[in-house]
Amino acid sequence: MITKTIEIAKEAGEIIREGFGNNISIEFKTDESNLVTNIDKAAEKKIVDYINKEYPTHSIIAEESGESKKLSEYTWIIDPLDGTTNFAHSLPIFAVSIGLQKNGETILGVVYDVMRDVVYSAEKGAGCFANEKKLNVSNNSNLAKSVLVTGFAYDRKDGYKEAVKIFGTLLPKTRAIRRLGSAALDFCYVASGVFDGFWEANLAPWDVCAGILLVEEAGGKVTDFSNNEISAFSNSFLATNGVIHSSLIEEISKNR
Ligand code: IPD
Ligand code: CA
Ligand code: CA
Repeated sequence: MITKTIEIAKEAGEIIREGFGNNISIEFKTDESNLVTNIDKAAEKKIVDYINKEYPTHSIIAEESGESKKLSEYTWIIDPLDGTTNFAHSLPIFAVSIGLQKNGETILGVVYDVMRDVVYSAEKGAGCFANEKKLNVSNNSNLAKSVLVTGFAYDRKDGYKEAVKIFGTLLPKTRAIRRLGSAALDFCYVASGVFDGFWEANLAPWDVCAGILLVEEAGGKVTDFSNNEISAFSNSFLATNGVIHSSLIEEISKNR
């Protein structure tokens, strides 16, 4: 299954690469900050058609076309293009993200960094890889030396306010904080040890399903902002190398 998932993630990536920087059509989902392009839809169709052909009994939750529920223990959770705003503005930071759950547990995750041509993949219990290279989270235990990443959801009413407060608390206590605009890649960079931690609230299951498994299989830890166990359907996510997890929970809790 992992080989086939990597294959289809790369095929979707090919569609995205061809569209990058070319004439794309953009629609607004809720408002002008929440975009979808013809390329998001084309990439998703490629993946969904493939899964329906290969695994006709499996359920699918896909960002653009919604849920196709079947009587199956397997559910595919798909973000065909994570980082649409970057893509639409010709910033080459975006990914295809595909997770597979069996009875609600994620057993496989693939994130394809399209422009770097790197496949991040993990199977439950079998480690995390970038192409063929085995990945490990960082071992930095010092918050002052840590480089973190976060994201801001599309909510322009109130949702962003807590995110900005947490950002403000952590910024002076860390070496740096980045905001890449692709939650799926944020998880990959924690799994790779590039970032020591990632936090974001109000993400959707397709943003996180594969990424959570990647971080866990690279030896990291993922909880919600209150240090509770999470699922792909949780409301907030903190993914770290494990060592700085409790320091971050403490800082985040000051803002809630
Ligand atoms: C978005 C990205 C972004 C995050 C947003 C997501 P999309 O996904 O992951 O980093 O901050 O909350 O919705 O819309 O580009 O697939
Ligand atoms: Ca997304
Ligand atoms: Ca998307």
